[in-house]
Formats: sequence, structure tokens, C-alpha cells
Amino acid sequence: MNRTIVQANGLYKKYSDGERELTVLKDVDLHIYKGELVSITGPSGSGKSTLLHILGILDSPTKGVLKYDEADISIMSEDEKSTLRNRKIGFIFQFFHLFSELTVIENISLPLMIKNKKRSLSSQEHNFIEQLLQDVGLQDRCLHRPSQLSGGEQQRVAIARALVNNPEIILADEPTGNLDKENRDTIYNLLRNLNNDKGITIVIATHDEAFAKTAPRMFKLVDGYVI
Ligand SMILES: Nc1ncnc2c1ncn2[C@@H]1O[C@H](COP(=O)(O)OP(=O)(O)O)[C@@H](O)[C@H]1O
Ligand SMILES: [Mg+2]
Repeated sequence: MNRTIVQANGLYKKYSDGERELTVLKDVDLHIYKGELVSITGPSGSGKSTLLHILGILDSPTKGVLKYDEADISIMSEDEKSTLRNRKIGFIFQFFHLFSELTVIENISLPLMIKNKKRSLSSQEHNFIEQLLQDVGLQDRCLHRPSQLSGGEQQRVAIARALVNNPEIILADEPTGNLDKENRDTIYNLLRNLNNDKGITIVIATHDEAFAKTAPRMFKLVDGYVI
């Protein structure tokens, strides 16, 4: 119990466009324990997405240390980092980021095919995907394309896709930011159940502080600092 899955120490993120410099993250320290549900909140522009991208190894900090299970990311090769990302981390975005040309089942299968370097699925993998579709309540939508789905349904596809490689941690960037109240509740309940039932660590970034406060632990970004 209480094993740290991600640990950040003294993270800084500076953006510069040649003329101006903007320090978005300042000396950020945080621990995320295995099995936790945590939120990261702060107003728009406070650096939530930046922090989440760094935690997800999609972006690197300007300074500071990020460790996954005690392993320092900064000394890993690009290959090692992408393996870690594929094995351990699932992402969910505000605007779903689904492939519009692909069906629901193809969108969900894609990360698995990429990992296996194969264009087909084994029957075991196929069953697993059927199960995921059921878990997110989309078994009767598997041949739909994203444009034929509501926002809430599209986000459920994105959640199933995030789960396909059995991640230990899911990083969700404003996952309900584009949804109405009813769908917000559905998505939040789904994430909470994944946390409770499967023990998946979940980090939700949201500008909605009232919503963020419903998580057992909350980090708040203020002027680049985490409190
Ligand atoms: N690639 C970038 N280059 C320069 N500035 C950026 C870049 N990405 C984000 N920013 C700036 O960093 C700040 C934090 O952005 P972001 O992490 O997206 O905040 P949030 O997700 O909390 O709204 C914003 O002021 C934004 O304009
Ligand atoms: Mg953001």
C-alpha cells in the first residue's frame, strides 16, 4: 500500500518564444500514490495541461526530476520513454481525439495494434475489447463513427481506448470540459469506478474547483506553484 507511482521534484516549465519567457510551473513537487484518485485544479492558463503532459511523458520539464516507480525519466532513451508510456499510462483529453474515419471498435483497437505491430487482433484481444465496450456501455455502438455519437459517448470511447493497454495510471485533461451535466456525471462515475474496482490510479485536471474538490486529494496550481 501507498507505493508511489509518480513522483515529481522541483519541476519547472518555461516557455519562451525568443522575446518573452513564461514560467508556467515553478518548483512543483508532488507524489501520486498507486490506486489514488487525485485532481489538479486551477484557473484556465494556470498550467494544468502542461503539468499533465509532463506527468504523462508527452513533454519534458525545463528543470526538475520526474520518476515513475523510482525510475528517473531524464536518463531514459526516447524508446524507453515510449515503452513506459504505452505500458503504464492512458490519456483522456477534453476533445476526445478520436480518429473520425475509424469506427468505435477500430479506435479502441488501434493502440493494441500499434503495440503488437499487427493489423489484426487475437480472439483473446477481441474478447477483451468486447468487454471494454461493455464496461463503458457502448456494445451496441461498436460500428459507429465518432460523428455518429454524442459527446459523452465519444468520451466513453476515449476511456475504453485509454484502457486497452491495461494502464496503471490514467491522466485525464478536462475530461468533462466539453460535456453537459448528465454526461459529466456519467464520465466521472466511470472514472471513479475504474479507480475503485480496478485500482487504476487516476489524475483528473479540471478548472472546475467544485468538481475537483470531490476527489479524495486535490492539487491546486496558483501562479505556477502547487499547493
Ligand atoms: N507550447 C507553448 N508555448 C508557449 N506557451 C504555452 C505553450 N503551452 C502553453 N503555454 C502557456 O502556458 C500557460 C499554461 O497553459 P496550460 O498548461 O494549457 O494551462 P491550463 O491547462 O491550466 O489551462 C498558458 O499561459 C499558456 O498560454
Ligand atoms: Mg488545459
